[in-house]
Amino acid sequence: MTAPEPGPVTGSVEIHHGDNLTIIRGFADASFTLVYLDPPFNTGRMRERSVETASAPGSSPAAAVVRRGFHGRDYERLRGDLRAYDDRFDDYWAFLEPRLEEAWRLLADDGTLYLHLDYREAHYAKVLLDALFGRDHFLNELIWAYDYGAKTRRRWPTKHDTILVYVKDPEKYWFDSDAVDREPYMAPGLVTPEKAERGKLPTDVWWHTIVPTTGREKTGYPTQKPEGILRRIVQASSRPGDRVLDFFAGSGTTGAVASALGRDAVLVDENPEAVAVMKARMPHATVTD
Ligand SMILES: C[S@@+](CC[C@H](N)C(=O)[O-])C[C@H]1O[C@@H](n2cnc3c(N)ncnc32)[C@H](O)[C@@H]1O
Repeated sequence: MTAPEPGPVTGSVEIHHGDNLTIIRGFADASFTLVYLDPPFNTGRMRERSVETASAPGSSPAAAVVRRGFHGRDYERLRGDLRAYDDRFDDYWAFLEPRLEEAWRLLADDGTLYLHLDYREAHYAKVLLDALFGRDHFLNELIWAYDYGAKTRRRWPTKHDTILVYVKDPEKYWFDSDAVDREPYMAPGLVTPEKAERGKLPTDVWWHTIVPTTGREKTGYPTQKPEGILRRIVQASSRPGDRVLDFFAGSGTTGAVASALGRDAVLVDENPEAVAVMKARMPHATVTD
């Protein structure tokens, strides 16, 4: 008698409820292969929270390492210029910066950071991240394009998000393009039937619908991202058994996808509704309040 085929391995999921900066400071250095972050968009009203939680310049050990280890003076100068230019971005960055420094500390040598941003912030953030982590650590700018909802007639309707991708070590990072879901060719008649059947490797521009308003995937959490987007990220930048972190977890899309693909996920969110949605979505998760 032959042994039954092993079923798909489901990775473990840990959910932590609380402010992410406090929680992730307790995690070990270099303990994650993939960190995906989808922070709240800049509302221009982040002052209160940023003052409450941001570290003073140079105060966290991680900050000191990042600034000394990479482009310290350039970074401080750029940050000063942007602060003088637009204090709405300054507030937003004061909130994000200490969290990004922690994310960098938590990445393993073969690790990758994906930062999902609104088109209004992406360019300021790109310049600062190049200076903070080093421009040679920049891997990609991914554009997620969708086509849904009302369209202005006063300019080109903005229907995309930007995901900036940085690798901890440009010599050692893990990237497996063969593991990624492929997509249909735009002109399948121009390639062989075998190629058309297999589909093409996605480029850095991803056309993908938003989460359908009905259907299996919908959780009801307002900022939920589609599983198809997270699947590509998890497939390319981690292996089964690796640890994946999302500390702006929301409805837990990263964890649901990572676990289904056999990775172990750690998720953090401060919103009790997010934690409730995640618990329902991933009944096998453990929850720490
Ligand atoms: C844009 S949503 C993430 C959505 C998620 N990618 C998904 O697919 O559902 C951002 C999340 O960050 C959480 N958040 C914002 N500030 C936080 C903080 N300081 N600590 C922990 N979570 C925070 C919010 O509660 C929100 O759920």
